Amino acid sequence: MKHKLWNCIEKKETNYVPIWFMRQAGRYLPEFREIRKKNPDFIKLCLNDRLSAEISLQPIRRFDLDAVIIFSDILMIPYGLGQKVEFKKGVGPILGDLNFNVILNTKPNDFIEKLSPIYKAIKRVKKDIGNKNLIGFAGAPWTLLMYMLNKQSPKNNFDINKIIKKKSLMRDLILKLEDIIFLHTKEQISAGADIIQIFDSWAGLLPKNKLSEYCYIPTSKIIKNIKSLQIPVICFPKGIGNNYKDFYEAVKPSCVSIDYDIDPQWIKGKIDGTAIQGGMDPKILLGEKEEVKKNIEKYLNIFKNYPYIFNLGHGVLPETKPEMIEYIIQLIRNKK
Ligand code: CP3
Repeated sequence: MKHKLWNCIEKKETNYVPIWFMRQAGRYLPEFREIRKKNPDFIKLCLNDRLSAEISLQPIRRFDLDAVIIFSDILMIPYGLGQKVEFKKGVGPILGDLNFNVILNTKPNDFIEKLSPIYKAIKRVKKDIGNKNLIGFAGAPWTLLMYMLNKQSPKNNFDINKIIKKKSLMRDLILKLEDIIFLHTKEQISAGADIIQIFDSWAGLLPKNKLSEYCYIPTSKIIKNIKSLQIPVICFPKGIGNNYKDFYEAVKPSCVSIDYDIDPQWIKGKIDGTAIQGGMDPKILLGEKEEVKKNIEKYLNIFKNYPYIFNLGHGVLPETKPEMIEYIIQLIRNKK
């Protein structure tokens, strides 16, 4: 269990910069697109333990990465709770109507049973990865709630007041999600995950006066539970800007994953030496190598002698050339 990411996070080791990428398995890899072409139903693919293990391993066969993230999706939780989830080509996720009764009455054992192929995939992957860390993950309550109620990406149509108008139902839903998210991460840990990342990809939609209720408090309960299992938790509250400091103080994650809007120098002084992950804008990887190199050096210099995990400020974009990932890894490895 005590591998590179783990040492960086828990032991605050600074002599080695571990590397992994959000969305390291995905559409920028031809071998993923090959499997995806033959499996048009994304949810079914996530529930195929053999293929999902295979996809998780694809990036580490190509690249010298320090961690494997299990191939799955944050929307497997709404699916496990009985909401319809589909992925439409060129559109993204589309969810069915939300039935509060079905969701609130979903029994933990039924949920685990429905998502059991994910845990099986983790067991398969664990056998094949030697001393690399295995990252399990879940969406944060707010981001899941947002998808469950908005039923699609909030990029085009989103009205927070519409989402949170039914106060008491919202409270029940959040409590249910806190339990189920912890259950899902606990099962992943039992199957072999040794680090958990919590994605709050849409935390930035919350106005400052709602962050505590919908982001910090529910997340901190889950984090406390996961930490009690001696498993480090990386939190990614994307888009909250200067509120990263308040987030850190309220949630106390084991490691803070920063997005590309966060000034790395600023955050470094704000979180008591806690490990930091990521930051660089994934769009930079679509440009020239010179620019990539300059940016990587910026992050490495700022985080010299600070526990830092190299990653991006969001997932690898589908247009990224795999050679660029290779280039980045070489640059970082050759720096020491
Ligand atoms: O390699 C990995 O990072 C592990 C697998 C992973 C996926 N999704 C696979 C995936 C992880 C960790 C996620 C998390 C996820 N899913 C998030 C949080 C991170 C983030 O990006 O903010 C969110 C918001 C989702 C929801 C989701 N899933 C969307 C909005 C989409 C469609 C748009 C897109 O980015 O592709 C997905 C589909 C999805 N999840 C794909 C993959 C590889 C693409 C599926 C395809 O069409 O082939």
